[in-house]
Amino acid sequence: MTKDTSNQMWGGRFAAGPDAIMEAINASIGFDRRMAAQDIAGSRAHAAMLAKSGIITDSDAEAIREGLLTVLSEIESGDFEFSTALEDIHMNVEARLKDLIGEPAGRLHTGRSRNDQVATDFKLWVRDQMDAAIGGIEALMRALLSQAEAGAEWVMPGFTHLQTAQPVTWGHHMMAYVEMFARDKSRFEDARRRMNESPLGAAALAGTSFPIDRQMTAEALGFDRPAANSLDAVSDRDFALEFLAASSICAMHLSRMAEELVIWSSAQFRFVTLSDRFSTGSSIMPQKKNPDAAELIRAKIGRIFGANTALLMVMKGLPLAYSKDMQEDKEQVFDAADNLMLALAAMEGMVKDMNANRDSLEAAAGSGFSTATDLADWLVRALNMPFRDAHHVTGSLVAMAESRGCDLPDLSLEDLQSVHGDITSEVFGVLGVHNSVASRVSYGGTAPTQVRAQVARWKDML
Ligand code: ARG
Repeated sequence: MTKDTSNQMWGGRFAAGPDAIMEAINASIGFDRRMAAQDIAGSRAHAAMLAKSGIITDSDAEAIREGLLTVLSEIESGDFEFSTALEDIHMNVEARLKDLIGEPAGRLHTGRSRNDQVATDFKLWVRDQMDAAIGGIEALMRALLSQAEAGAEWVMPGFTHLQTAQPVTWGHHMMAYVEMFARDKSRFEDARRRMNESPLGAAALAGTSFPIDRQMTAEALGFDRPAANSLDAVSDRDFALEFLAASSICAMHLSRMAEELVIWSSAQFRFVTLSDRFSTGSSIMPQKKNPDAAELIRAKIGRIFGANTALLMVMKGLPLAYSKDMQEDKEQVFDAADNLMLALAAMEGMVKDMNANRDSLEAAAGSGFSTATDLADWLVRALNMPFRDAHHVTGSLVAMAESRGCDLPDLSLEDLQSVHGDITSEVFGVLGVHNSVASRVSYGGTAPTQVRAQVARWKDML
């Protein structure tokens, strides 16, 4: 099935319009309309530069500028009629500009191609998303800092292998996530710095014979400089990949935290109570309060990993410079960006609202022989025992407590002395969880003093 309308943008070369299937596979307007504002910003910068460089007249540039503003307001107000026949956002905008201002619209594309145009639009869009992600991460970090500050000295079990290891503080656990998300933030900041070069003016792939001023358009669009190689400028999608890679790592952190919230909010743990605002009920079991937001964060991040892999697959076989394959970059990035922002906001909301159950945390902190290492350390310090021997003695005491069904602090001095005669009652001072965490004052350790110092450091930096 063919149409008899040939394309108004390149109709000169074509006798017939595209098959309907061709139109369907080729069109990107269904999704790249999200870059309308960026496309118009790029065109405005380009038109102003063309006039300043004497390539078009000032009056043409002014007509283009006004026309583009009208197009933008039509799009923003929902009055714009997008056309699939016009393929993409670039041609939709240009065609409407022609309706509005006539001949000068045809001069806008001088010294430019859709290849540098789309690279520019997409970079501007991704750059905005990097800024949004940085903002979202900062908001989450602030929520974590509040939790850490409130619970700097609340004790809870620290785990390795999800087995009770040593007591830690709630604040310390919250601050671990602050460190993780701070690295995510710096990855976006780093990627943003590296990507901030303008492709505009690279034209199709080789540059242009018109006396354009790439510095001027770069500056107008907030880029640090023009990209130095026109082939690279139109074929580079590293910025999108870096966005997806940074998003993937951040999403992985969100998912780990979501997993902890799912475990912690269970009846078996009761470490936290999630707010009603971020939970759902069950249609059949009246007692249920489900951590759906955490579960959906955990699940949604798969889409972000998928987008990262998908775009790597799109790019890996492409010869220089532009290939139409690259049109497939956008939906992946759009979807990943939407879900990252949603996951960040949902996590921030959950963290802000959640209540740590101090008593459950403390009760759990003391179970599972969590202060065994403190006992071994005491034997080293007080009795000058080699650590390996102290480890052995402690192991025997743990076995004794286990066989009696009690915890280490519940053993009597006689019990302790039956394993090693030199042990004194002083040892009970280190068997309590509060003493345990208070003693871990090494830099970055779990002692409340250390946690408070880290909270203060991060509050300063945010
Ligand atoms: N819609 C296209 C894209 O997203 C714009 C660039 C088209 N360039 C071309 N030479 N056909 O990549």
